[in-house]
Amino acid sequence: MTGRPPPLTVRCPAKLNLYLEVVRRRPDGYHDLDTIMQAIDLFDELEVVPRRGPELTLECSDASVPADARNLVVRAALALRRHTGHAGGAHFRLAKRIPAGAGLGGGSSDAAGALVALNRLWGLGLSTARLTEVAAAVGSDVAFFLTGGTARCTGRGEQVEPLPAPRTFHYVLVCPALRVSTAGVYARVRFPLTPRRADAIMPLRELASGDVEGLGRALFNRLEAPAFLGHPSLANGKACLAASGNFVGVAMTGSGSALFGVCRAADRAVALERTMALHLGQTHGVRSLAHGARLVVA
Ligand code: C5P
Repeated sequence: MTGRPPPLTVRCPAKLNLYLEVVRRRPDGYHDLDTIMQAIDLFDELEVVPRRGPELTLECSDASVPADARNLVVRAALALRRHTGHAGGAHFRLAKRIPAGAGLGGGSSDAAGALVALNRLWGLGLSTARLTEVAAAVGSDVAFFLTGGTARCTGRGEQVEPLPAPRTFHYVLVCPALRVSTAGVYARVRFPLTPRRADAIMPLRELASGDVEGLGRALFNRLEAPAFLGHPSLANGKACLAASGNFVGVAMTGSGSALFGVCRAADRAVALERTMALHLGQTHGVRSLAHGARLVVA
C-alpha cells in the first residue's frame, strides 16, 4: 500500500434563475443582481485524481471547453492554493453534460466541485464559510454551488442566502445550439431600468408554499430582453414554449441561451415529449435539487 489517497468524484449540478433583476452597474464593470437560483438534477461529473507533483492538469469530455488555466476548475484549484499556501497538485477528469454558454452555471458548478474535492483530498479542513471566500474570487456563481438548493443571491451573485424550498418542482429545460456571451448580454442592458419592487414580486412565497402556478407567474429575468436582441431565435423559442400550453410559466436562465418551463408533476412526461417534438434544442426533464456540488461516496 502506498499512502496515496484514492480518486474522488463530485457531481456538479446545473442551476436555473427563477428570478433575476439587475440592480445597478458597478464601478468595477460588473452588475449587482438580485436573483433566485435553483439547483437542478442535470450534472457534470468531476473526478479528482491525486498526483505526487504540483501540476494541475485537466482532461475534458467536451473538446470545445478549454482545459488550461482558463477553465474554472483549474482557476478554483489555483485560488485554493493561494488561499491556503498548500502546494499540492491534482489531475481532473471532467465529464460535461451541462451545455456551456447556456446560463446553466456548469463551469461555476465544476469549480465549486473542485473546491469541495480538493478540500478533502488535500486535507485542508476548510469550513463552507472559508470555501465561500475562495469561491467568490473564482467567479460570480461559484459560491452558490457550494450549498446549492434554492438561494437568493445578491452582489455580483456571490452573496448567497439559502432559502427553504420544501417541495420538489418540475421543469423542462431546452438548450438551443447557441452559445451566448454573458458579457455581451450585460453590456446591452438598458439603464436606467425601471426597478421592480423586488420583494413584492420575487417568487419567494410561491417557493415556500409549493404553489406551482404562482411560481410560474412569478418567473422573471431582466436579461431576456438584451439576450433576445442579440439572438432573435431565443425570443421565438420562448414564445413557442409559452404557446405550447404545457407550462404554467416559461423563462430564460442566466444570460441564456437555455430556456425552461415550469410544469405540474403530473404533466411532466407529456410536457417533455411535446417539447422534444418542437425541436428547439437539446431537451431535458429536470427537477429541483436540495443541495449543491457533492462528493459521491463510494
Ligand atoms: O463572473 P463571470 O465570469 O461569470 O462573468 C462573466 C461576465 O459577465 C463578466 O465579465 C461581466 O461582464 C458580466 N457580469 C456582470 N455582472 C455580474 C456577473 C457577470 O456584469 N453580476
